[in-house]
Amino acid sequence: MKIKVINGPNLNMLGIREPGIYGSESYGALCAMINEHCEKLGIEVELQQSNHEGDLVDYIQQSYGCIDGIVINPGAYTHTSIAILDAAKAVGIPMIEVHISDVASREDFRQVSYIRAACEKTITGHGLQGYIEAIDFLFEKYGK
Ligand code: DQA
Repeated sequence: MKIKVINGPNLNMLGIREPGIYGSESYGALCAMINEHCEKLGIEVELQQSNHEGDLVDYIQQSYGCIDGIVINPGAYTHTSIAILDAAKAVGIPMIEVHISDVASREDFRQVSYIRAACEKTITGHGLQGYIEAIDFLFEKYGK
């Protein structure tokens, strides 16, 4: 099984940005945790992060035909990007939406998720562990 974990804007600032909301672990630590978990399960994983909307569209498009599942945290683009939703719908790859924070209990402008319409499951508020839960879900459903 081959998956991608795609992170959007400001997630490269994990550990620095609002640690009370996003925790004290760095993006590097998140990548290490994901790599270790995937290695244990025998999953091939590619990690991608960008602060640019079009890059996220490219990462999704480039997955077509070669990736079995995508875990995505589009950051703030969750709440604004029809282009990322359209890319997800275009490739039709099983996708799980992850948010580190509990977006449901935050500001009104975070209550809309465009990407959700293309995702099999949404995991919010479980911290970095949410990425692991998303990977496990994909593995259980598509990895065996
Ligand atoms: C986030 C939640 C978004 O509202 C925010 O813009 C982020 C991170 C999360 O992981 O909790 O950048 O996606």
